[in-house]
Amino acid sequence: MRASLEELPTPAPLVDLARLRRNAEAMLDRARAWGVRLRPHVKTHKCPEIGRLQHGGRIGPVTVSTLAEAEGFALAGFQDLTYAVPIEPGKFARAFALARRVRLQLVSDDADAASALASASERAGLRVPVFVEIDCGDRRCGVDPEAPVAAELARRIAESPSLELAGILTHAGHAYDARGADEIGRIARQECETSVRFAGRLRAEGIPVPEISLGSTPTMTHAEDLPGATEIRPGNYVFFDAFQAVRGSCGWNDCALTVLAAVVHRDSARVVVDAGAIALSKDLGPAREDSRAGYGRVLDRNGADTGLRVARVSQEHGEIDLPPGADPSAFPVGSRLRILVNHACLTAAQHAGYWVLEKEAAVDFWPVVRGW
Ligand SMILES: Cc1ncc(COP(=O)(O)O)c(C=O)c1O
Repeated sequence: MRASLEELPTPAPLVDLARLRRNAEAMLDRARAWGVRLRPHVKTHKCPEIGRLQHGGRIGPVTVSTLAEAEGFALAGFQDLTYAVPIEPGKFARAFALARRVRLQLVSDDADAASALASASERAGLRVPVFVEIDCGDRRCGVDPEAPVAAELARRIAESPSLELAGILTHAGHAYDARGADEIGRIARQECETSVRFAGRLRAEGIPVPEISLGSTPTMTHAEDLPGATEIRPGNYVFFDAFQAVRGSCGWNDCALTVLAAVVHRDSARVVVDAGAIALSKDLGPAREDSRAGYGRVLDRNGADTGLRVARVSQEHGEIDLPPGADPSAFPVGSRLRILVNHACLTAAQHAGYWVLEKEAAVDFWPVVRGW
């Protein structure tokens, strides 16, 4: 297929294929240079085509954040998946059904949940690989690696006949609150050192730790090396977005996801497009650094920055304020603009797939796996 931007139904998520490939290759190169496996987090795009592209066009290991993603990627041929949200009993049966077909690694930070998992997997006749999630400073999930319960959890998993200790997993989400490259670099070191230190303690107690899995987009774009880690799980890097550009994880010309929108109203003060909160998300992205950021940067149909921002959103409307004296005739109703989004993962999750953009025309549509 080949469709011009005027022919696409709006709002339409566009992925720039050249940028997507470049971002994917750059992270593959980093992983190779560090000697670690890349297990990209596909929650960013939920799209098997992009998952393959992240592995240079092949099937490779991936991280997922929903069982729907796990099932969808398994159906597309992906064989090695980590479901990187702590498992809870309501999801055991569905996870086990999938674990009979592919390697599905689970995560736990809770002794009771891990015991329940051990009993259920024994009843199901399965041996399930489980990571112990540790908290390296994010304070979201993960057990405190300094607390005795952390090593106890790892030991219980390692000694259970129906579980396999896959390793240690951590996520340095606090890198998203860091100010500047130095602080992100420091968090990247902390993420790695905390994990390696805990693995060292377990190994000293005779508990084998095969994998040390870590890495987000900010930490993996600012880390210098990762001594002791075995795999990295960045996700957002394949799209990047306004937040990552402002934080120095990428340049503006690396951002691969934009939303094509049509002008539905104009007056002397404003242009309104058909991309609102649902098409863009309400994430304020780099608001701390850029008080004008609003809900996204307004680009022209060719991707050039107009200097305008989406100032307000309602469900299906995006309002763009014009500077005093601007000529609204430059924005006829029906003309197309592109919004460079604040947080690509949240925007992407709203859409059924992506129009693949090559040389300013859509050449394909890649569907995504939605839901939970
Ligand atoms: C457990 C886990 N691993 C990896 C990632 C990927 O991080 P990023 O989106 O910064 O690339 C996330 C993102 O939230 C995550 O929750």
